[in-house]
Amino acid sequence: MTCSIAPGKVILFGEHFVVEGYPAIGLAVGLYARTCVEEGDLKIYSRQLGPIDPSSKEAKPYMRIIEEASIRYGCRDRYRIYIDSEIPVGAGMGSSAAVNVSLAHSLLETCGVEFTKEDVSRIAYLGEIMVHGKPSGVDNTLSTYGGLVYYRQGLFKRLNTSLPENTALIVADTGVKRDTGLVVREVLERYRRLGGLGKVIYEVAGRLVEEAVVAIEKGDVSRLGELMIVNHGLLFAMGASAWINDYLVHKMINNGAQGAKLSGAGRGGIVIGIARLENTGKIMEALKTEKVNVYLVKPDHEGVRSI
Ligand code: MEV
Repeated sequence: MTCSIAPGKVILFGEHFVVEGYPAIGLAVGLYARTCVEEGDLKIYSRQLGPIDPSSKEAKPYMRIIEEASIRYGCRDRYRIYIDSEIPVGAGMGSSAAVNVSLAHSLLETCGVEFTKEDVSRIAYLGEIMVHGKPSGVDNTLSTYGGLVYYRQGLFKRLNTSLPENTALIVADTGVKRDTGLVVREVLERYRRLGGLGKVIYEVAGRLVEEAVVAIEKGDVSRLGELMIVNHGLLFAMGASAWINDYLVHKMINNGAQGAKLSGAGRGGIVIGIARLENTGKIMEALKTEKVNVYLVKPDHEGVRSI
């Protein structure tokens, strides 16, 4: 049996806008999906969901990945697959991408062909299409390569610097699950309805990401925080926020965060905040009174790998 793990992610800047070809910045985080594959009859088992019927909707991304590996790489078309994930589902932390990436990796390993991370990311993306409809590809890229990544239209570069020293990234999971594909479609519908105005908002979002790269390079936490707040405002304007996201953004800022925003598709899911280390205790305590799950994010620099 061959097993691989792949990390989840948070998007720091540019979600939704990235779907229309504007840039985004994301960070792979140390929460993992693990997939094990062995030769045998077709069988899919999830530790969280139990047995998954290969003809069901849930199995579609996995079946697409198996199909691609068989057609393009000459692999078998039947395997036993075991999936286990610690990444919250439907929260904006890239749970589906991490499963798809770890599956693509362990499948190619089991099959015994030579492959690169580019192959893994590309095959996983086909699975992502089955889950989300029109994904930008940022989630599978982050999960495959790890690290702090600038992504635009299928191309990416690792940002050599990481977040400024003495800084923490706090994640608050609202616990409100939503369908990424649906939110993406509705945001795009508003973009189309707004016409020229929508275009201006997306241009500003793109410019904001370039400014964020400079702030990261300079280690300027106050600037990064302010840019996060502006990014949240643009996402609110496009209909990606919900009251719980706005509320937690305020809660983080009022308790000492330099900035905060929804992250991922929004309308629930997670809110992230950036804070100086000395302020994190107060912010986390304040969030816990709201009964939301709170994490301090640990970056993953490696991306998908065998275990
Ligand atoms: C989801 O993690 C990020 C979105 O921008 C969708 C995508 O990029 O495919 C909302």
